[in-house]
Amino acid sequence: MAEPMIDIRDLTKTYPIKRNLKDLIGGVRHEVKALDGINLTIEKGEILGLAGESGSGKTTTGEILVRLQDATSGGITVDGHPIGLKGKHDRKRFRKDVQMIFQDPYETLNPRFNVYDTIAEPLRIHGLKDKHVMYDKVIEALEIAELRPAEQFIYRFPHELSGGQRQRVAIARGIVLEPKVLVADEPVSMLDVSIRADILNLLKQLRDKFSLTMLYVSHDLSTIKYLCDRIAIMYLGKILEIGPVNDVVADPQHPYTQVLLASVPVADPDHVKERIMVDDEVPDQIHLPQGCRFGPRCPYFKPECLECDHTLRMVSDNHRHACVFAKDELIRNDVPKPVEVEEKPL
Ligand SMILES: Nc1ncnc2c1ncn2[C@@H]1O[C@H](COP(=O)(O)OP(=O)(O)O)[C@@H](O)[C@H]1O
Ligand SMILES: [Mg+2]
Repeated sequence: MAEPMIDIRDLTKTYPIKRNLKDLIGGVRHEVKALDGINLTIEKGEILGLAGESGSGKTTTGEILVRLQDATSGGITVDGHPIGLKGKHDRKRFRKDVQMIFQDPYETLNPRFNVYDTIAEPLRIHGLKDKHVMYDKVIEALEIAELRPAEQFIYRFPHELSGGQRQRVAIARGIVLEPKVLVADEPVSMLDVSIRADILNLLKQLRDKFSLTMLYVSHDLSTIKYLCDRIAIMYLGKILEIGPVNDVVADPQHPYTQVLLASVPVADPDHVKERIMVDDEVPDQIHLPQGCRFGPRCPYFKPECLECDHTLRMVSDNHRHACVFAKDELIRNDVPKPVEVEEKPL
C-alpha cells in the first residue's frame, strides 16, 4: 500500500498553565493535556475531518502539523519525511509543504497588505526573487481561488473585501507555494451561511485538481459530512472514533459519537445549527477522569469504563472506536442520565 501523506504517531501535547494567584505564589503548576496520544493517517488526496466539541484538541493537532506549535512527544511524517516537532528546526521547509487556513480571515490577513503582497509574501520568504514569476504565481493562485478577474483584486486591501473573498485570499496565499497538505481550521464558521458551501466546494476542487491532502478541523458535523472522506471524533485529547464519514454517520459506535450525531440535525451546509449536549459534568480539562474520558457524561457508564485505555477496536476495515463495549453490548444504566440537548446558534 502507498505510504500515507500524513502519519501522526502517539502525539501528545501538554500546555503548562498557572491557575490563580495562590497557585502562582505556591509555585503549583497545572497542565492541560490537550493531546493524549493521537494516532492518525491521511492518504494522499484525502480529506480528513477532525470533529469534537471545543477544547478537544483539534486546533492543537492542526497547529502542530503546520509547526505553529511544538509537540510534547510523538512523531509525524509528511510524505514519508519525519518532521521535527520541537524548536525552529525544519520549520521553513515544512511550512512550504503544509499550509494552514484559519477561521477568521480578517484577523489573519495583514490589514496593511494588499492582496498582491499578501499572496506574494510566502513566495518572498521562500526566496523567490523574479518579479515576473512572482506576478504570474500570484495571479494563478487568485484564479484558482476564483477571485476573477485576478488583476482587479491584487490592489485591494482586506477591508475592501467581503468575508468570503477574504477567505479566498487566505486560500490563495495557502496554495501559492504548491503545498502537499492544507490544514483548514474552522474555515467557514465565521462566514455567512450563504457562502459556506462555495468555500467548501473550492476546497473540494483543490483536492480534485491537485490531489491536495487536507485536515479539515471543525466542530460542525454537517460541513464535515459535506466535505470529508473520513472523520475522526476527538474528546479531551483522545480520538474516540474514526472511519469513513458515511459509515460513522450511518452507524456511530462510540456513545459520544452517537450523542454528537443525534444532536446535529441532518442539514445541508446552508442551514447549519450546532447543538451541544449539556449536563452537570462539564469536562474538566485539567483533572481528567480515570479510564474513558467520556465516562462521566456517558449514559452507558459501567465500572469497566474505568479500565478503558482508548485502544481503537475495529468495526470494519477502516472504522474503529475506543469504547470498551461493542455497540450491541451498550446498555443504559438503570437510572438513565438525561442527556439534554440545547440548541445554540453558531
Ligand atoms: N496556548 C495554549 N495555552 C494553554 N492551553 C491551551 C493553549 N491552546 C490550547 N490550550 C488548551 O488545550 C485544549 C485543547 O485546545 P484546542 O486544541 O484549541 O481545542 P479545540 O480546537 O478542539 O477547541 C483546551 O483545553 C485549551 O484550553
Ligand atoms: Mg479549535
